[in-house]
Amino acid sequence: AGNNDNAPLFTVNSPNVVYSENAIETKYAYHTTEVTRAPGGKLVATPKAHGYNFKVDRKVGKVGMMLVGWGGNNGTTVTAGIIANRRGLVWDTREGKREANYYGSVVMGSTIKLGTDEKGQEINIPFHDMLPMVHPNDLVIGGWDISALGLADAMDRACVLEPSLKELVRKEMAELKPLPSIYYPDFIAANQEDRADNVIPGSKASWDHVEHLRKDIRDFKAKNELDKVIVLWTANTERYADIITGVNDTADNLIDAIKSGHEEVSPSTVFAVASVLENAPFINGSPQNTFVPGAIQFAEKHGAFIGGDDFKSGQTKMKSALVDFLINAGIKLTSIASYNHLGNNDGKNLSSQKQFRSKEISKSNVVDDMVAANSVLYKEGEHPDHTVVIKYMPAVGDNKRALDEYYAEIFLGGHQTISIFNVCEDSLLASPLIIDLVVVAEMMTRISWKKAEGSDDYKGFHSVLSVLSYMLKAPLTPPGTPVVNALAKQRAALTNIFRACVGLQPESDMTLEHKLF
Ligand code: NAI
Repeated sequence: AGNNDNAPLFTVNSPNVVYSENAIETKYAYHTTEVTRAPGGKLVATPKAHGYNFKVDRKVGKVGMMLVGWGGNNGTTVTAGIIANRRGLVWDTREGKREANYYGSVVMGSTIKLGTDEKGQEINIPFHDMLPMVHPNDLVIGGWDISALGLADAMDRACVLEPSLKELVRKEMAELKPLPSIYYPDFIAANQEDRADNVIPGSKASWDHVEHLRKDIRDFKAKNELDKVIVLWTANTERYADIITGVNDTADNLIDAIKSGHEEVSPSTVFAVASVLENAPFINGSPQNTFVPGAIQFAEKHGAFIGGDDFKSGQTKMKSALVDFLINAGIKLTSIASYNHLGNNDGKNLSSQKQFRSKEISKSNVVDDMVAANSVLYKEGEHPDHTVVIKYMPAVGDNKRALDEYYAEIFLGGHQTISIFNVCEDSLLASPLIIDLVVVAEMMTRISWKKAEGSDDYKGFHSVLSVLSYMLKAPLTPPGTPVVNALAKQRAALTNIFRACVGLQPESDMTLEHKLF
């Protein structure tokens, strides 16, 4: 039944946490360590405490999810998956019966340690029960695609789901039809052109397009009586947009560039602008630079949420866990060679050089922070060699292959070579991430904060939702702030921020209660 009512699985027993019908209000002490440099290369660490008040709006409301690229592999798979869960479907496979689940979703499939009971036993609760989050079964789904195919036929085209499952959802899927979308052929591979039979007239950015998409969002909201809509780009990977002074470098320039039909404004950026204007959080699941500096500034000006870039589903997720482990184990990683081949439409689009380049950039920077953090193993500016190759191989379809070799230097000049062969159904890994991104982004619209001192009003988190980093390959962060790629740190940030919202300190894993007695 989810957790949409006002009877949460746990309550916090503290004078700093106050529950009312509509809100949870918390006084929280955020503990940090301030480091200053002393003469002779020495450092001084000073513990600091910062007082914040958090307020969580407990009324989840009715939430819509609009997908750009709804008729694609991810769009159809996540839609069928939610329908299957909503209806508790069970279907036959050659390995026996399978039932709907949300495996692979951190929100729906993982737990958080709440604390320990009087016997010293860990109490772990479903992640979804940490705060009053929307249940994915309750999401109303809609969206756009440049291909007119209805969702049932698009699900067949995707070649992802078992025939027996498809039969069970077909009728409902057949009623779903993507809205026409904007198509600027220069931004995606030429090999996608034959799909584009559902397009809004005009092949470059225009203010009409912005208004058209805004109206789509408003209409969807009104028709389904929604309180909120989250828009997520899971359409084809676009080429990078050139960053041009006077065109997309500032919010005002970007708006002018859209109005004048500048050819460097991508469809995804137009979607971002339209979403910001409708105050609908916009998340980019593909690698391109949708969030040109002007788009980020525009979101900041409007206090609207944006997040990106590029779902972190398979190879990169492994990488951001494994590299974190190796380097933190004191092992000097010296090279990473990553090969992929895949045969779905994403692979076809990525077989075009400019679109591949977007993916290559997004996949390449994922170890930077972990390397930079270890000055024992790496001299300043030193970096492991890192190569990323992607090939289109139609025969393997959605079953992407990722081959990775990690080569490291160990004790006294020895070597360690780790070879990984990761075969995964791409869209079945990405779909739960779509759910996580939407659920967490929606949650963030209901969290506000103010400094404990002073008389400021409550306000939202920064427009750029870096708290979504765990689900993303190239996390977007507020301008000038560091990017964290290490998977464990990303998860800790997410869970500890949610803990803070109900007045709980981070789970430190010290377990002193088992060590000091
Ligand atoms: P897909 O090619 O099956 O689906 C993309 C859909 O977008 C297609 O139906 C296409 O017609 C539509 N489309 C293209 N341009 C559009 C536009 N301007 N407006 C509306 N619709 C448009 O691809 P898939 O496998 O669903 O992946 C989607 C995106 O997610 C890709 O960019 C991919 O790189 C990214 N991604 C996927 C991952 C995964 O599947 N594991 C992981 C990381 C990123």
